[in-house]
Amino acid sequence: MKWWSIATTAIIVLLGCVNQQQLKDKDYQVQLGRYLFYENKLSVNNTKSCASCHNQQFAFTDGYRKSITSLGENVLHNAPTLINIQQYKFYDWANPGSTTLTKQIIRPLYAEHPIELGLNLHYPQVKAYLEKDSVYAKLFKQAFPGDTAWFTLNQIEASIVAFEKTLSSYNSSFDKQTMSKSAQKGFELFKSDRLKCAACHNPPQFTLAAASSNIDSVYANIGLYNVGGKNIYPVEDAGLVSVTQKKADDGKFKIPTLRNIMLTNPYMHDGSVATIEDVIDIYARGGRDVNYGDYKGDGKLNTNKSNLINGFTLTAEERSNLLAFLHALTDTSILNNPKFSSPVTY
Ligand code: HEC
Ligand code: HEC
Repeated sequence: MKWWSIATTAIIVLLGCVNQQQLKDKDYQVQLGRYLFYENKLSVNNTKSCASCHNQQFAFTDGYRKSITSLGENVLHNAPTLINIQQYKFYDWANPGSTTLTKQIIRPLYAEHPIELGLNLHYPQVKAYLEKDSVYAKLFKQAFPGDTAWFTLNQIEASIVAFEKTLSSYNSSFDKQTMSKSAQKGFELFKSDRLKCAACHNPPQFTLAAASSNIDSVYANIGLYNVGGKNIYPVEDAGLVSVTQKKADDGKFKIPTLRNIMLTNPYMHDGSVATIEDVIDIYARGGRDVNYGDYKGDGKLNTNKSNLINGFTLTAEERSNLLAFLHALTDTSILNNPKFSSPVTY
């Protein structure tokens, strides 16, 4: 062997080791993040974790209309799935500043109105607990071997984010191209000019939030409300307008994914639509008519509604094809994938 070929080989081997080491650190972060995602001790009264509201059994949602915090209060919104979350460019229902998982995690960990987990309110106790626990003591050092202090908030955030990024799902019959004839017809309808679903829920993630960085296309008003006929959504939860202060943004919420949609009811930002049948009825009507109570008004007539929502009629067969397609987006393998489940068995 020539000297330079030995040298090149040595460099390649060395680089390989460095690379492997980095990979390993990340793997340990994922492992640690999985423990922390399921760790009730993070919450101010030791009762809840990320998994309480993002439960694997419900495709990482919680089945409530609006999630319940560790102190028993309702948050404003319905918990979205976390499947394929790393593909998105925007997080949460109506916060265009939440553009990375690192920014997003601030709210569940530290928000005070309402307190969700409230980690900051008892961090010294959490740190003491993590230091004492032999599993955590080891994992923090393996996950962050270059650091000089451990059990920090930054490390907690980074590990949970590393775990979140592993929550992927590509085993639906849509992904495997094993859709029934009926589902295939449903997919054609879904993409058709008549229904226009795919204009906002575009494959493969079935949300523009994974495809576009343009706020004007990622958030939409689909005509769920028209309180008092004043072209507004309920003032306490009016969507994008609460951040941008632009009147045209009233009622705009982030387009959600439709992956695993049959597992994530109830639907919409406030969980106000119970079933998938009801969702289809609302789109077919071109908006929802709320005909009683404080929010009375016809969403179909809301002038802020997207011009893609115009209503349509479906034959019974077309409706069942559309439903078959929505079912084809279900990946049941995520519900019992051991890599996503709690690392602690009781
Ligand atoms: C009290 C219930 C609750 C807890 C606890 C909770 N979440 Fe959430 N999560 C929600 C709700 C509700 C939303 C929607 C928030 C909004 O838009 O107002 C959400 C949104 C998210 C999103 C954005 C999803 C999307 O489609 O944009 C991510 C990511 C997320 N949560 C991760 C976490 C992580 C990580 C933790 C633990 C540190 C956590 N959540 C704890 C209820 C919860
Ligand atoms: C203009 C863009 C747009 C079009 C077109 C559109 N949607 Fe949506 N979709 C949204 C937005 C935005 C939401 C969330 C609205 C909210 O919560 O206020 C949503 C919510 C949903 C939900 C509930 C998801 C969840 O997790 O709660 C389903 C199901 C759904 N859409 C299916 C469809 C179907 C089927 C079609 C075609 C008939 C369609 N959408 C057309 C933007 C759109």
